[in-house]
Formats: sequence, structure tokens, C-alpha cells
Amino acid sequence: MRLPTILLAVTLVATAGLALAASPVRQAILDGYAKEAGVAAFSAERGKAFFEASHAGGKPETPSCTTCHGMDPRMPGRTRAGKAIEPMAVSANPKRFTDSAFVEKWFKRNCDSVLGRPCSAAEKGDLIAYLSSL
Ligand code: HEC
Repeated sequence: MRLPTILLAVTLVATAGLALAASPVRQAILDGYAKEAGVAAFSAERGKAFFEASHAGGKPETPSCTTCHGMDPRMPGRTRAGKAIEPMAVSANPKRFTDSAFVEKWFKRNCDSVLGRPCSAAEKGDLIAYLSSL
């Protein structure tokens, strides 16, 4: 009686983990960007390059996404005022990219600061692909 109970518990935890990793809201956000960008798939590799690059055109004190989010998205970042920012990697912070209004608000604000322009749908999709792949 004991073993099957444990097995059932393990199965349930594994299933819940999987559901969390593949959040339907995150998938819907990605699908929206794919439609807008007119692409079938995003590139985690391009997303990583975009996240780590030094960009011109934005504010000089924030040249890169990593200025605040750090080089390792599985670790917390820090605002310029020193306030902690939770990790960006979905594996470390499953809440990431599960609220489209929140996602859009921060893309707008941060892309303005770093690039001096809005991020394209392709850039947003690649970035989420990267941060979901870690
Ligand atoms: C000046 C500091 C700063 C910079 C530079 C910055 N961010 Fe952020 N970012 C934040 C803060 C603060 C939050 C909100 C707090 C949080 O979500 O933990 C945030 C949140 C986000 C979110 C919301 C994610 C979610 O939870 O759904 C996205 C998307 C994002 N940033 C993208 C970017 C991108 C892309 C860049 C580079 C182009 C960038 N950020 C650069 C400070 C920054």
C-alpha cells in the first residue's frame, strides 16, 4: 500500500512540474509574438545574444539587459538603485512571462531604456525562448 502511494505522489509532482514549465499563458504570449513577427519559431540562441549585447541608442547608463538582470538569468539581478530583481529564467522563476500586461509593460520600459526604441515581436519571442530554455 505504501509504495503505490509514493509512486502516485511522485507522478503527481512530476506532472505539476511539467504543466508549470509549459504554461499555457506563456505559450499564448509566444504565439502572439510569432503571429506579429510572421515567424514559425523563435531562436533561444538569438535571444541570448540580444540579452547579453551592448546596445546603442538607449540611455548610456543602461547599455544592456544584463545591466540590471545580470549575466546569469538563473540568478537574481539588481536595479540601478540596488533593489533585487527576481531571476528572469523560467526554471528559476516560473512566474516569468505568465501575465501579458506585465510582460508588455516591462518590455516597453526596458527596451526604451536600453535600445531607445520598442523591442520587435521577434526580439521579444527570441528572448522568451532563451529564458525558457535554461
Ligand atoms: C534599469 C534596469 C533594467 C534593465 C536595463 C532591464 N530591465 Fe527588465 N526589468 C527590470 C525590472 C525592475 C523589472 C520588474 C521587476 C521584476 O519583474 O522582477 C523588469 C522586468 C522585465 C520583464 C518582465 C518579465 C516577466 O516577469 O514577465 C521583461 C520582459 C524584461 N524586464 C525585459 C528586459 C529586456 C528585454 C531588457 C533589455 C532590452 C531589460 N529588461 C533590461 C529592470 C531592468
